[in-house]
Amino acid sequence: ASRLKGRDFLGLMDYTPEEIRYLLDLAIELKRKQKAGEVYQPLKGKSLGMIFEKSSTRTRISFEVGMYQLGGQALFLSRNDIQMGRGETIRDTAMTMSRYLDGLIIRTFGHRNVVELARGATIPVINALSDQSHPCQALADYQTVLEMKGRLEGLKIVYIGDGNNMAHSLMMGASKLGMHFASASPEGYEPDAGIVQSAKDVASETGARIEVLHDPREAVENADIIYTDVWASMGFEEEQKERERAFRNYQVNEALVQKAKADFLFMHCLPAHRGEEVTEVVIDGPNSVIFDEAENRLHAQKAIMAAIM
Ligand code: CP
Ligand code: NVA
Repeated sequence: ASRLKGRDFLGLMDYTPEEIRYLLDLAIELKRKQKAGEVYQPLKGKSLGMIFEKSSTRTRISFEVGMYQLGGQALFLSRNDIQMGRGETIRDTAMTMSRYLDGLIIRTFGHRNVVELARGATIPVINALSDQSHPCQALADYQTVLEMKGRLEGLKIVYIGDGNNMAHSLMMGASKLGMHFASASPEGYEPDAGIVQSAKDVASETGARIEVLHDPREAVENADIIYTDVWASMGFEEEQKERERAFRNYQVNEALVQKAKADFLFMHCLPAHRGEEVTEVVIDGPNSVIFDEAENRLHAQKAIMAAIM
């Protein structure tokens, strides 16, 4: 645990399997404390800055409430309201904010902004979603799977759809946690080849298995978890129509889930485009755990903050 103090949380790639398991256990413990009404405030007197360049419901609320529960406070800093929106450099922003704050989160378009902020800051920086990855969501999702299934190793998680930030973070997490990850995306929308290679390299050491496929029916065979996300992520709205055509055969519906295990979990980071990437029957069905995932954002991020800040 002491090895985590002061560290950034930019992606699961930077954390060892043991460190990820430690964070998952801590998240479950902090959830238990919260439900039991136990006050736990290791971050009393500390402040978290939250830089947002894109919309958010879950991330903003769960970080803000989480920081409050841990005894600290959070400041919502919309990009347009701080000088960064008028061209102050990320480095100057990082140096300045480090003089006031004890931690920073950033939700931005280019992942290099996250890296640059972390490089310039002397306080821990957390990736709250970039075009490349969404590690806080993946951590909360694996907490959810662990709670529901009692284990992670050996489980098959199938990701259907766009090879986006969610696909990347879930894949990286699965490789660290010894799981079998399979994705199915249309031609041209596969996950990033470099990230797939890194995940495969990790998998060769942990016993995980990483498959990048095109056919959703093949991928979903024997799935313990079926995960999907929107076809057009934030920043890709103008491609909506063209993506609807490309992803037509990638809807998670009643026919597709037949091929999964009977007790499969349906997962989605939210927000969802109901009737597009998933049907109402599946997302509202008995296998769906979407709101448990949303809740666990709070507990998983409290664990990250308590560990690194
Ligand atoms: N899943 C997620 O990050 O949701 P928000 O965009 O609402 O924060
Ligand atoms: N892939 C989605 C996730 C939103 C939480 C996006 O980047 O918009």
